[in-house]
Amino acid sequence: MKTKEGTGFVELTLVNDNGMSVEIINFGARIKSIKFPVQGKATEMALGYTSAQEYLNDDFYLGATCGRVCNRISGGKFELDGNHYQLTQNDGENCLHGGIDNFSLRFWQIDSETVSESSVTLCLISPNGDQGFPGTLNLSVTYQLSEDNTLSIKYSGTTNSATPVNLTNHAYFNLGDKDCQSLYLQMMSSAFLETNIENIPTGNIVEVAQTDYNFREPVSIGYRQHNTEDESLKTKNGYDHCFILDNTPFEQPKAILTSFKNQVRLSVYTDQPAMQLYTGFYLSGQFSAYQGLCLEAQNYTDAENNKHFPSNLLKANQQYQRKIIYKFESIT
Ligand code: BGC
Repeated sequence: MKTKEGTGFVELTLVNDNGMSVEIINFGARIKSIKFPVQGKATEMALGYTSAQEYLNDDFYLGATCGRVCNRISGGKFELDGNHYQLTQNDGENCLHGGIDNFSLRFWQIDSETVSESSVTLCLISPNGDQGFPGTLNLSVTYQLSEDNTLSIKYSGTTNSATPVNLTNHAYFNLGDKDCQSLYLQMMSSAFLETNIENIPTGNIVEVAQTDYNFREPVSIGYRQHNTEDESLKTKNGYDHCFILDNTPFEQPKAILTSFKNQVRLSVYTDQPAMQLYTGFYLSGQFSAYQGLCLEAQNYTDAENNKHFPSNLLKANQQYQRKIIYKFESIT
């Protein structure tokens, strides 16, 4: 494990014996880099910046831990136990990925006792009232790189008063291709959340069968995006939708992304019930649209305002625990 310090930024490199390495930074508890060998050459699988300044200016949540509640809360408002809460609004009227000063913009504390060649835990205390959310939330995220080329992410948290919690990782994957449109995606999902123009769920859950949201068999992202007649996909310039995952055992992948060019496969495992597929249309500046895609394992969007969705509520003295695993394989 290497440590690089400066300007408050700490960068740690996790390594295994198979030539895979993962860089984690304390700013936003982010994944900065995932390198996997392609024909013996360490190849970047995800988007990252090189300098601290670029992370400080980042608008795209590159590799970030998003929360307290990732994705959107409609109007930045919700009601809990008869109390009305107004959150900070950073997406028009809505609250996106936790609000204006969300967790992707905080310096997380590295728990020095957990640091090893292959693992690190970062901690954050989010005080009562943070971005308008109730309750003091104590969080940790553990990244572990294993010899079987899996990067596992474990979230855990407790609160002293009931609060919604929904954490995810916002890595943009391209598996070493020039953009995500050349990749093939398979997702174990039979339904997705219909959304309005502001990406807020209407409350309707729509079956994927006979639609361009059907990823049950591997699909070329670029082909789909270029050929779709679906109005929502056309207006949003691609996918930015929440898919409900099949309730299968954890050991079965929920999404599989493949680069046939680099002969690399990424399998995503999670205990989260949904996954936001975002194909990165809004990337700009040093990145361009579609340069990477996010497979954000999380709960249903805007569960706070849709009582028929699974709840995000964490009560005092309950334990929040969620897992995401990214497994990389060579398919040669
Ligand atoms: C959202 C997009 C948003 C992006 C910000 C994604 O998780 O679904 O709508 O633009 O994050 O980078």
